Amino acid sequence: MTEHQRLIGKLLEQYGSWFRDEEALGAGRMTADMHPYKRLFSPIQVNGAWIKNRIVMGPMGNISMADETGRPGTKMIEYFVERARGGAGLITTGVVPVSFKIDPSFLEPGGLVYLPRIDGSRSVLAGWRALAQRIHAHGAKFFIQLSPGAGRVGSPECVVKRYRLPVSSSWNPNFYMPALPCRPLREDECRRLVRATGQAAADARACLADGVYLHGHEGYLLEQFANRAFNRRKWGRFRDPEALGLALVREIRARCGDRFPIMYRIDLSLALRETYGQRMEEVRSLRRFRDERTVDETLGAMRCLVEAGVDMFDVDMGCYDNWWLPHPPGPMPPGCFLALSRLVKEHFAELGVRSNQGLEVPVVGVGKLGYPDLAERALRDGACDMIMLARPLLADPEWPRKAQAGRVGEIVPCIGDQEGCLNEFIHGGHLQCVVNPRTGFEEQIPRDAVPAASPRRVAVVGAGPAGATCATVAADRGHEVALFERREAAGGMLIPGSAPRTKYEVANYRDHLRARLARCAAERKLEVRFGIEATVSMLGEGGYDAVVLCTGGRLTRPPVEGIDGAHVVQAADLLEDPSLAGGAEQVVIVGGGDVGCEVAHFLACELPGAEVRRVTVVEMLPHFMKDSCTANRGYLIHHLEKAGVELWNCTRLARVEPGGVVVARNVSSTVPSPYVTWAPVLPENVKNPLARPIRIEEREVRLDADLVVLATGMLPAPEFYEVCLREQVAPEVHLIGDALAPATVAEAVKAGHAIGRLL
Ligand SMILES: Cc1cc2nc3c(=O)[nH]c(=O)nc-3n(C[C@H](O)[C@H](O)[C@H](O)COP(=O)(O)O)c2cc1C
Repeated sequence: MTEHQRLIGKLLEQYGSWFRDEEALGAGRMTADMHPYKRLFSPIQVNGAWIKNRIVMGPMGNISMADETGRPGTKMIEYFVERARGGAGLITTGVVPVSFKIDPSFLEPGGLVYLPRIDGSRSVLAGWRALAQRIHAHGAKFFIQLSPGAGRVGSPECVVKRYRLPVSSSWNPNFYMPALPCRPLREDECRRLVRATGQAAADARACLADGVYLHGHEGYLLEQFANRAFNRRKWGRFRDPEALGLALVREIRARCGDRFPIMYRIDLSLALRETYGQRMEEVRSLRRFRDERTVDETLGAMRCLVEAGVDMFDVDMGCYDNWWLPHPPGPMPPGCFLALSRLVKEHFAELGVRSNQGLEVPVVGVGKLGYPDLAERALRDGACDMIMLARPLLADPEWPRKAQAGRVGEIVPCIGDQEGCLNEFIHGGHLQCVVNPRTGFEEQIPRDAVPAASPRRVAVVGAGPAGATCATVAADRGHEVALFERREAAGGMLIPGSAPRTKYEVANYRDHLRARLARCAAERKLEVRFGIEATVSMLGEGGYDAVVLCTGGRLTRPPVEGIDGAHVVQAADLLEDPSLAGGAEQVVIVGGGDVGCEVAHFLACELPGAEVRRVTVVEMLPHFMKDSCTANRGYLIHHLEKAGVELWNCTRLARVEPGGVVVARNVSSTVPSPYVTWAPVLPENVKNPLARPIRIEEREVRLDADLVVLATGMLPAPEFYEVCLREQVAPEVHLIGDALAPATVAEAVKAGHAIGRLL
């Protein structure tokens, strides 16, 4: 094994333990020690494009943002303009397939599409031109990301909706339904893909795009050809893994000329072997992918791509089957792929690799780089030539302008949880953001809130994400706001939610909310009263024009014998006060949703004594974290397994006893393994006709436990609201957040923002 390949194994090890290192944690903070950011805000030439700074907006699928014909419309245009206006030097679109006919997975019945199109019809071109013109008006450059398709990682619904098998390079299992085969594309179809890519690039150029960007990573169709893990063709031109990529680049060059920039996205390694080890031999759907491209082969392929005409790369790692790598969730380290871009940069420098225009080939760093000091340091240290920001620009499109001006504390930090962006796709939505309620709604929600026509006296009760957002928005509009919080600090459920070190990004957001409140208070727009439990009489006597209740939900307890035992605690309480764990060495966590699994990770990997602690999580349903983003779920379950945490699915809590619990466990062989991270849990509205039914064979089992942690969710708590209504404490009373309907932070923030603007 070469040194380069060893780096991949080393990184994978680090991803499970990095948070124990203070310095690594420090890199994920919103500091401004290196301001002014001279490297970040220095221009760069990429073939014919001069780019004003080193910030690239990363590609993020514009699912359901274009019209259903695929033409970029107002929603998509305003979304991008917001990011160009915010100061990014280069804007890239999300994936734009070049042929909906060859890869059937994106095309809906009736010819409708949920992704933007540039192929097929002149009617879409005006949308692209308008988009490019509006981006250029803000001084940014614009690349369109072209993709041959999704192949095996596309939706399998084409089988039932269009009676067509999904496609790939060879016979490969579909990612969502591994029992469903994807057929190999024919040679003539591959040639059509090449021509379609050339045409799409020529159209992109005609639509004023400054370059195109090939989607060669993460195990999408292009990589299904470019990587032996997926490409096992025995004959024809495209059995050579490099053939398709090179053919695409040459075709684009032939159609668009020498000066048109071509960017290429590649993963240095799928890292499947390093992720799954022996499982690569044992698991049927993984076994096929054993023969993956090595790092040295990737470097060789990159050199050939440069010779063919590529001007610039960005480099990451992993694929759908270990999705937490290309889509690094919260617990992944800041700057997680900088070692990869550094390796490529050093390799190019050593071999004197130059583009066909005689320029250095810039390597863009990607992955959790939304910290200005970290980004500047990476550029100064030679880890990369440009910085890609994807999710950080969803959270705050003005990241570049604020960083340039040294207003780093005002940047709204990304919390990396992917629930508002990536997981929104799975449920049928478009790009949004947990911490930025305008993302994806720029065309509907104006940037600046209208100042209040007549300032009113407003009481907001509860300073969690809903209350803090509502209070600051209302105060900024000129209302006189009193914010009551029974704790001594703002944050609500973000306080326990940010306690583990792996939740450093949530801690950043918690601190950001607190700083925003402090700023409003300093400007005398807002009075924050900590340590005060608002009462009905207090609100009634306050003479408020409006009262907004954000008082939070009620944590549930399973109604079983012994649940009030002294060794039973709520997960939220434990996170806030880890001393509740005492010296517990045997812990049972009840509830395998996000909170249960995060607490398990905290107990098994962070809290002192982790080495000797035995942690078991019991969950009634067949899957742990079933509603979470597949990437988040993958990271946690993979690392829980590595830490020796036992996951018992299809298991009900029967009763709690002194020193233990009794559970009813389904021991049938049809219960799925809870440790599967190479296939996703399908959303409930997607029926999998190939799924194996689960038989029920329940047995009672006793588990010793000196600590039982409840992570069984929350219920609404509208009682205080009902009393406030009855007593008519104010002419206007609102109830928002978990007290109304326990949901995600995203919904709390959206509600706080909406009511703050309404008052
Ligand atoms: C919602 C979402 C959609 C994405 N869509 C694409 C895409 O269309 N094409 C692509 O190459 N990468 C896509 N990515 C990956 C990002 O470009 C980026 O590599 C990843 O989010 C890590 O960067 P970040 O930490 O700056 O967000 C997507 C990421 C997210 C969160």
